[in-house]
Amino acid sequence: MATRSPAGTRGSNSRFAQFKLVLLGESAVGKSSLVLRFVKDQFDDYRESTIGAAFLTQTISLDDATTVKFEIWDTAGQERYKSLAPMYYRNANCAVVVYDITQSSSLDKAKQWVKELQRQANENIIIALAGNKLDLVTDQPDKRAITTADAEAYANEANLLFFETSAKTSENVRELFTAIAKKLPLDQAGPRNPRAAGRGGVTLQPETPGTQKGGICTC
Ligand code: GTP
Ligand code: MG
Repeated sequence: MATRSPAGTRGSNSRFAQFKLVLLGESAVGKSSLVLRFVKDQFDDYRESTIGAAFLTQTISLDDATTVKFEIWDTAGQERYKSLAPMYYRNANCAVVVYDITQSSSLDKAKQWVKELQRQANENIIIALAGNKLDLVTDQPDKRAITTADAEAYANEANLLFFETSAKTSENVRELFTAIAKKLPLDQAGPRNPRAAGRGGVTLQPETPGTQKGGICTC
């Protein structure tokens, strides 16, 4: 189970690493809801659309010895914020590109983001594709606009991790972030002392893209 790692309980054999993660995707696919589920284990039926971006952190334990801290940039999907995106995916170690399985246009948008990340983001960025709102098709399969097989075939071809998720029920949300953590270069992680993580771990660039002002910091 994911926990925030308590300071001062870190053994010498344990590892700590922090990674920058960015969420991208069309507006209303559920990016903020996935983050809210992952970070606070909550869900809102009526969420305000994100303005600019929001910043949150979450720490998970992969095993007794390995702690991964995600520094999460939840971007705004509305078209008018599109030009801000490079500021958030710059130096990102990993990305979650989200679509809504009941809206076929949202997968087209997700594919555009994947292309942009593969061209312009970090060379080694780990990208996960998340088909969200799985709960909507559980009782009403006719609501589904994108089959699992089609999305999975695309994800395999583009070398992406792939999950269908529900921020509402929490299905596959933790699995998604855990799978990303497991693909990150944890062998470069340093001692489980956050101060030491800057030396041995994967460090974040000290960037302030001018968004922290508008962002929500829950760290
Ligand atoms: P922007 O901030 O505009 O980019 O949107 P977003 O991608 O962050 O979407 P957001 O999380 O705000 O969710 C949009 C709407 O979809 C909200 O009303 C959520 O309650 C709803 N929603 C999000 N995830 C799910 C889900 O898994 N299932 C269902 N049924 N609704 C969801
Ligand atoms: Mg949002």
